[in-house]
Amino acid sequence: MENPAKKMLIINGSPRKDGCTSEMINFFAGKLSILYDITVFDCFGNAFSPCCACGYCEENDGCVYSDMDGFFVTLEDSDAIVIASPVYFLSYPAPLKNIIDRCQRYYSAHFIRRIRPTVARPKLGALLLCGGSDNRFAFEVMEKQAKQIYSIINTKYAGMAVRSNTDSPAGIFPSERLEELAEDFIRFCDQ
Ligand SMILES: Cc1cc2nc3c(=O)[nH]c(=O)nc-3n(C[C@H](O)[C@H](O)[C@H](O)COP(=O)(O)O)c2cc1C
Repeated sequence: MENPAKKMLIINGSPRKDGCTSEMINFFAGKLSILYDITVFDCFGNAFSPCCACGYCEENDGCVYSDMDGFFVTLEDSDAIVIASPVYFLSYPAPLKNIIDRCQRYYSAHFIRRIRPTVARPKLGALLLCGGSDNRFAFEVMEKQAKQIYSIINTKYAGMAVRSNTDSPAGIFPSERLEELAEDFIRFCDQ
């Protein structure tokens, strides 16, 4: 397909251009590029202000800061959102966590101002994670966070692919469920 109509936003939480997160993104994007026009957003190259808990979004549409205006337009305009990230201390690296916290504007819209849906265009969501150790707890925690975000931005969660033990001297541990997740995504798009 020369000009795919659907748009996918991949939010890349890793600072490393050739790390495991990038590998997972490249594989996933390679499989999905026949269906989606894909934008990869580099969180470390575009760091935003953290949420300052000012309460502006409890009364108003949007955020008191304007630095993420362009990002929010891209996000709202997308048909698919993929969060791709390494594990940092059982959570997301700080620039990506800032983006997650700034989604408080959608949380307030949904739960306080009761705008349903907060984002008009429905989306499909997925999560790609890699961690240096074999501790799976971080994947569970980060999946819970991602699901919470997806639930307030009109996004149906398709699932998670992970790669653990990336820092192991014992060699390379392959990604789990990455290919299946790409196939699930293709199936969901057909529905
Ligand atoms: C600041 C920092 C904190 C980390 N914390 C964890 C952790 O809590 N659990 C874990 O399994 N790996 C942890 N790691 C290892 C990374 O998740 C791992 O190296 C990952 O593969 C890096 O992905 P990337 O190559 O895409 O950047 C940490 C790495 C850094 C730099």
